[in-house]
Amino acid sequence: MIDQSLEQLRADALAEIATAGDEGALELVRVKYLGRSGGIAAISDGMKSLSKDDKPRIGKLLNEVRNAVSAALDAGKSALLADADKAAFAGVDATLPGITQRLGTLHPITQLQDRAIQIFRRMGFALADGPDIETEFHCFDALNTPADHPARNEQDTFYFGDGRLLRTHTSTVQVRTMEKSAPPIRIIAPGAAYRRDEIDATHLAQFTQMEGLYVDEGVSVADLKGTLEFFFRELFGKDAKFRFRPHFFPFTEPSYEVDIKATALGSADRWLEIAGCGMVDPAVFESINARRNDHAFDPEKYTGFAFGFGLDRLAMIMSGVTDIRAFTDNDQRFLAQF
Ligand code: DAH
Repeated sequence: MIDQSLEQLRADALAEIATAGDEGALELVRVKYLGRSGGIAAISDGMKSLSKDDKPRIGKLLNEVRNAVSAALDAGKSALLADADKAAFAGVDATLPGITQRLGTLHPITQLQDRAIQIFRRMGFALADGPDIETEFHCFDALNTPADHPARNEQDTFYFGDGRLLRTHTSTVQVRTMEKSAPPIRIIAPGAAYRRDEIDATHLAQFTQMEGLYVDEGVSVADLKGTLEFFFRELFGKDAKFRFRPHFFPFTEPSYEVDIKATALGSADRWLEIAGCGMVDPAVFESINARRNDHAFDPEKYTGFAFGFGLDRLAMIMSGVTDIRAFTDNDQRFLAQF
């Protein structure tokens, strides 16, 4: 009698599991047969009143039925999950080629600037910064550039109506740095500079420079040459040759232009003018002292060197770009090559 109702219970449970359409329906079946007040629990409660002869047999059958229902519930749940997965992937062809993500790269001038910063970092130069919109003092007067100097001409420099201007070189950061800190100073300052140039294949109205300044006791021309030669050899390779050609800049004395020959510059036997440099003119120290109202840059105690070079032309030479405008046209066909 009990055997019969257990068999019936198993058949009913398996039939209901087979037709359950979702997890909610399966859960209802579980509660109905395996739950605390379910069919199997009821029979299990009745075990006490069974005879000694029936007990082992019924107990065994009860376990079998419980396990069979439980296993069928698990299998039903897995089958439902597999169906759901299948539905989610319906219409997806896993053999089709994927969609490639197009990754951008850093701008070629940014890449060159980063390399330059890393090399100077190794020599202990820190990064310094200043504003693009400047005063005449920071751009010219403090740098010993008199009012009648051609660089101060309206035709060459972008002036705002109020006397401010777009800096024509990054040398302004020398002044900004010395205004707020005392020697020793060892900085580089990459950044934009602006000139009212006619735009063509070799000129933009905005370009990128890197400035350097080193002020301490006993700094000499030998330090200047050693530093720049090390830097440019790291950048262009060991075969680079140098020529420090006397020149004039208002803010350095003596001043030089640096010419370089190097295979990496595509000119193993032609001198290319790459940078300007020199020993900081004592007049610059004096104008900084006057501004600071102290004697922090005593020209009797301190000497220094400074240098500046353009990154655009270097990047052009190093990667064979023949039109500087390509750097600002934002054409992906150009930029994707770097
Ligand atoms: N400021 C100069 C220019 O824009 C470059 C330069 C020359 C910077 C000599 C310096 C220097 O610091 O010492 O052409």
